[in-house]
Amino acid sequence: MVQRIGFVGGTGPLGKGLAARWARAGIVTAIGSRRPERGQQAAADIAALAGPAAAEVSGGSNLEVVAGADVVLITVPFDGLDEALAPLADQLTDRIVVSAVNPLAFDAAGPYPVPVAEGSAAAAVAARLPGARVVGAFHSLSARTLARVEQPMDDDVPVVGDDEQAVEVVLELAARLEGVRPLLAGPLRLAGPVEDLTTVLLALNKRYRAHAGVRFSGIDP
Ligand SMILES: NC(=O)c1ccc[n+]([C@@H]2O[C@H](COP(=O)([O-])OP(=O)(O)OC[C@H]3O[C@@H](n4cnc5c(N)ncnc54)[C@H](OP(=O)(O)O)[C@@H]3O)[C@@H](O)[C@H]2O)c1
Repeated sequence: MVQRIGFVGGTGPLGKGLAARWARAGIVTAIGSRRPERGQQAAADIAALAGPAAAEVSGGSNLEVVAGADVVLITVPFDGLDEALAPLADQLTDRIVVSAVNPLAFDAAGPYPVPVAEGSAAAAVAARLPGARVVGAFHSLSARTLARVEQPMDDDVPVVGDDEQAVEVVLELAARLEGVRPLLAGPLRLAGPVEDLTTVLLALNKRYRAHAGVRFSGIDP
């Protein structure tokens, strides 16, 4: 069972929201940043959001927080992958690394998927972390909704990956988010479509002033 999660770039809205929910579920979290004091400040914010009964939330540099983590979450923007991952590559061999990164951009017509040479952001993470056990998940969870920690989520989380054991660990981790139904969606080669779906959610959010999530019908796992 996962006991400690390290967040690379955990100072943004997604890292904060996920960490607060997992801390409330009893999982120790460590919030990484390029600047350790930013990680520590984010950790204090998350601990306040999570409440006094939550598990420990600490902060530091990205390098510090991945040490000792059972699972490492990558929560940086797509164009930050090189800068974020290059210093960590040696540390993350054989480790379970989860990419929640969506390669997307906006123009006057709204959000759109950015083409990725490797096929997906998750594959780009794998290319930058040789030997890491890369899984894709949590792409379509709204940070705004995650931050409302008293309310259960109402989302499916498709999980993709090629390492069966790593995928199993991430499915269990997703299940620790109250109201989330984890779904085994397939191999890492499906990460691209899963990531691109987020652009549709963002377009829907704009059109309907919502914080849309994903629910797949017809599945009774
Ligand atoms: N926001 C959402 O609702 C949501 C939902 C699902 C998935 N996602 C995906 O999850 C990822 C994080 O989303 P977010 O909204 O939390 O992102 P964000 O606030 O834009 O960035 C998160 C953190 O990444 C670090 N970062 C930024 N640029 C970097 C760079 N060039 N190199 C290294 N680190 C950098 C920063 O941390 P420091 O400055 O502290 O180092 C920043 O606080 C994105 O890929 C996004 O597509 C977001």
